[in-house]
Amino acid sequence: MTAPSEPADAALEAAASGAQRRAYAPYSRFRVGAAVRAAGEIFEGANIENASYPLAICAERTAVFAAVLSGAYRLEAVAVCTDASPPSSPCGACRQVLLEFAPDPTAVTVTAINPRGERRSWTLAELIPDGFSGKELP
Ligand code: THU
Repeated sequence: MTAPSEPADAALEAAASGAQRRAYAPYSRFRVGAAVRAAGEIFEGANIENASYPLAICAERTAVFAAVLSGAYRLEAVAVCTDASPPSSPCGACRQVLLEFAPDPTAVTVTAINPRGERRSWTLAELIPDGFSGKELP
C-alpha cells in the first residue's frame, strides 16, 4: 500500500508536491501541500501556521477554500503531500470540510504521498464513514 506505485492523477500529485514547498510551518516543521481537482481544474493549498498556534490552517482546507472561492464546489479528487512515511492522511477537521464539497464521497479519491514516492489512497467515504453531511439540518 505504501510502496511506490503509479499515480492515478499525476498532475494532481505534482501540484500537491509543489504546494508543499510553499507551506509556512515554522512551528511544527511539518510541511503539508494539498491539491484538489474540482470542475476539471486543480487548486493548491499548504498549511499556514501562526505564532498563536491554534490559528494554523491545514493544507487541505486552504486548497478547498481556494476552489470554492473560484466557484468550483464539486470535489473530484484530493492529493496531500507530507514528508511522513507512511504518507499522512487528512485530519478529521479536513475530512469534514472535504465532505461538505463532495457530492458523492464514494467517488472522491484521496491520495496521500511523500517525496519517497510512497502512496496511500482511499475514497473520502472510507475516511469519513457516515459523516455529517448537513442533510440532517432543518
Ligand atoms: N496539517 C495539515 O496541513 N493537514 C493535516 O491533515 C494534518 C495537519 C498541518 C497543521 C499544522 O500546521 C501541522 O500540520 C502540524 O499539525
